[in-house]
Amino acid sequence: MESASSLAAQARGYAKAARTLEDDNEKARARELYLKAAKFYNEASLVTTDKTDRNTQRDLAEHLLDKAQSLKRSGTRYSGSGVKEESGDTDESALSEDDLIMKHTPNIGFSDIGGLETVKDDIRKAIIYPFTHTELYKLYGQKAGEGILLHGPPGCGKTMMAKAAAKECGADFISVKTSSIVSKWVGASEKNIKKVFETARRCEKAIIFFDEIDSIAGRRSEAEDYAKRVVNELLAQMDGVDTADDKLLILAATNEPWAIDPALRRPGRFSKLVYIPEPDRDARDTIFKINLKKRPIANDVDAGRLAKITESYSGADIAAICKEAADIPLGEALRGGEPRKIEMRDFVTVLESRKPSIRSWYAEAKKEIRKSGEEDVFGEVFK
Ligand SMILES: Nc1ncnc2c1ncn2[C@@H]1O[C@H](COP(=O)(O)OP(=O)(O)OP(=O)(O)O)[C@@H](O)[C@H]1O
Ligand SMILES: [Mg+2]
Repeated sequence: MESASSLAAQARGYAKAARTLEDDNEKARARELYLKAAKFYNEASLVTTDKTDRNTQRDLAEHLLDKAQSLKRSGTRYSGSGVKEESGDTDESALSEDDLIMKHTPNIGFSDIGGLETVKDDIRKAIIYPFTHTELYKLYGQKAGEGILLHGPPGCGKTMMAKAAAKECGADFISVKTSSIVSKWVGASEKNIKKVFETARRCEKAIIFFDEIDSIAGRRSEAEDYAKRVVNELLAQMDGVDTADDKLLILAATNEPWAIDPALRRPGRFSKLVYIPEPDRDARDTIFKINLKKRPIANDVDAGRLAKITESYSGADIAAICKEAADIPLGEALRGGEPRKIEMRDFVTVLESRKPSIRSWYAEAKKEIRKSGEEDVFGEVFK
């Protein structure tokens, strides 16, 4: 097996060449090399034993994949009639597997997620135990879970929770870039969905995760043709999953659950809705602690007090607050100051200019849910 450092070196080489090609406007070639670079970083991250390297390599792989996809989008144009116009790309229809999917076992576990204890329990029962206690479940005639739809305000841990679920049960995590599934080419979107399920079936056990599923599974009544076909194909594929044999579970996440085609919530599909709420005070305390763990903190910094003054802030807000607070002494040191620890006053400075991000989400969510008449389905939002 090749070493992590040699794989990473190859990845760097490809990434560099890709950038040169992109500068020369050779989009198709650049995209190809970005994908190669992403693939090598991904492989390096699977081999390396160094945790920091692994995280960096994964980030780089995702970043390069995004770059490749953005080139794909900018290199392909559509005419009003859906007829192909000049494009820098040849495989215009279905995307390659690399484009669609990041496949790995994630490095985020339950211990990295602050709060949400009841959600973790739900996930254990619905996802982890059926994988880890297969025989028991069989004995009692219980089938492994139907699909689970995680929903709730932005930045409160939906994507993290999905990753952690895969890590906790040691399944391959097939994260689908939903935005890359939708193609206006006739048939291509369906092919992309099929490919995702085929890939998952080849794994020993796998979790397919459709993040931001609202971008592909809108209400069919309001959708354009190609989007309707995506939903239909997704429904067909989900109906075809026999969880007992397939060792395959399906998760999705959205912060606009009301926008999703209700047919996706029928039994056997995403019949289980799991609400991921904003963090309460205890959870905020833990999230602060998680984010401060690896940073030099002065004695006057008190996670409990920070949790108290950050009501309505999301987990993502808290992560950003910690980062921005750390930027203050870092900036001073970069300008030649004596390095010092992060102090409470740095947090106060950051909080003065940063408002909670999720209040507006609640207003919008309530309005939209009332409009769709599904207050009983999404009751948690009104609590
Ligand atoms: N409960 C939590 N514990 C620890 N960190 C959290 C938690 N919730 C959010 N975070 C932080 O916020 C970031 C974003 O979280 P995540 O991507 O899971 O949110 P999300 O619910 O998927 O948001 P979106 O709806 O915008 O996709 C995480 O990378 C993490 O740093
Ligand atoms: Mg998310």
